[in-house]
Amino acid sequence: MKVLVIGGGAREHALCRSLSLDPDVSALYCAPGNAGIAEVAELRPVDALDGDAVTALATELGADLVVVGPEAPLVAGVGDAVRAAGIPVFGPSGEAAQLEGSKAFAKDVMAAAGVPTARSYVCTTPEEVDAALDAFGAPYVVKDDGLAAGKGVVVTEDRAAARAHALACDRVVIEEYLDGPEVSLFAITDGVTVVPLQPAQDFKRALDGDEGPNTGGMGAYSPLPWADPKLVDEVMELVLQPTVDELRRRGTPFSGLLYAGLAITSRGTRVIEFNARFGDPETQVVLARLRTPLASVLLNAANGTLDAEPPLSWREDAAVTVVIASYNYPETPRTGDVIEGLADVAAEDGPDAYVLHAGTRREGDAVVSAGGRVLSVTATGSDLAQARETAYKAVARIRLDGSQHRTDIAAKAAEGR
Ligand code: AMP
Ligand code: GLY
Repeated sequence: MKVLVIGGGAREHALCRSLSLDPDVSALYCAPGNAGIAEVAELRPVDALDGDAVTALATELGADLVVVGPEAPLVAGVGDAVRAAGIPVFGPSGEAAQLEGSKAFAKDVMAAAGVPTARSYVCTTPEEVDAALDAFGAPYVVKDDGLAAGKGVVVTEDRAAARAHALACDRVVIEEYLDGPEVSLFAITDGVTVVPLQPAQDFKRALDGDEGPNTGGMGAYSPLPWADPKLVDEVMELVLQPTVDELRRRGTPFSGLLYAGLAITSRGTRVIEFNARFGDPETQVVLARLRTPLASVLLNAANGTLDAEPPLSWREDAAVTVVIASYNYPETPRTGDVIEGLADVAAEDGPDAYVLHAGTRREGDAVVSAGGRVLSVTATGSDLAQARETAYKAVARIRLDGSQHRTDIAAKAAEGR
């Protein structure tokens, strides 16, 4: 099977790494990719948001499957363009991707499907904003309706700041604050059959102790030793299957990866958000634990034959990933700094630890930073404590001027807290 992966972050590196280890995959391409992905896939330049360009590339390569990694091309309908050319695509249609592309649409689907989520109002005027802020009180949760690359959500005790964010957006969702630990649960679906993956936890804040600004994600781990063993079954029944059924009922079936961001509150599990693609950095730890070869699962989802797929098989191992970010991330990150120590990780810590590239590119013989999140250092171990130790040992070998990382990824969970 020839597979083309669209995107170029650590999530796509994790996908390409798994696909490159799958004996069913005879050729693997990634567009545009990054310096790390180049070691496991052949890179092709492409404008990932241009459906015609992606379709032309997939046709030229004779791809049997196109996997669209990031949300922006999905929402832009790149999957639809490729599918229209008769090539199977892992990833939802532009319409179904509105589940991520519009918070208001997601709320509407959840209401129709009876999926538990925060109570909310959709607001477009200052009067509606004031009424909604007062209805819920502090802490205030204000979400830009559209795609905002992780920057659209403000959670604050400060009413003026909440109001200012709301008024800066055209349309906002203002919602009830959800208290409790967050869990990311992914499911692969063909629009009918839903296959859950293993839950993971993401660390969204920039600094240790969940301080600092929100980011795209600074690290993740899986499994979650503190979670109720029935969590996956419960979320399947209350959230994932009803959402997939509702989208099918509306005539916009969702196939691809359905990402449920959940809060485990004292009043039960609630959906914080849906995403229409694999999460980053959770994918790095979830795929590190997946034993089943990935390609046929993704192809069956793309072809509507997921019911033919045998149950997924998982390693007993735990996995931890630690993101190394650029100087000044998540503000205006500095790029173009040389990264050293990558070969040391491979030599000293492999195969238990490996470096997945997020924002990197090759400059002559050097690998340099090319984005806010630069590397996702991933490790497995017999338990979280061991995976953590191996991951941080590898992180310590990487040299990138001015870089930052959290030192507490999976720390509490590893200590049984
Ligand atoms: P989102 O982009 O919707 O995932 O929101 C980003 C982050 O904001 C989430 O991971 C949560 O930490 C936080 N957040 C979003 N919605 C809520 C809510 N209703 N209550 C508390 N925190 C929230
Ligand atoms: N880890 C959060 C996201 O992928 O949106």
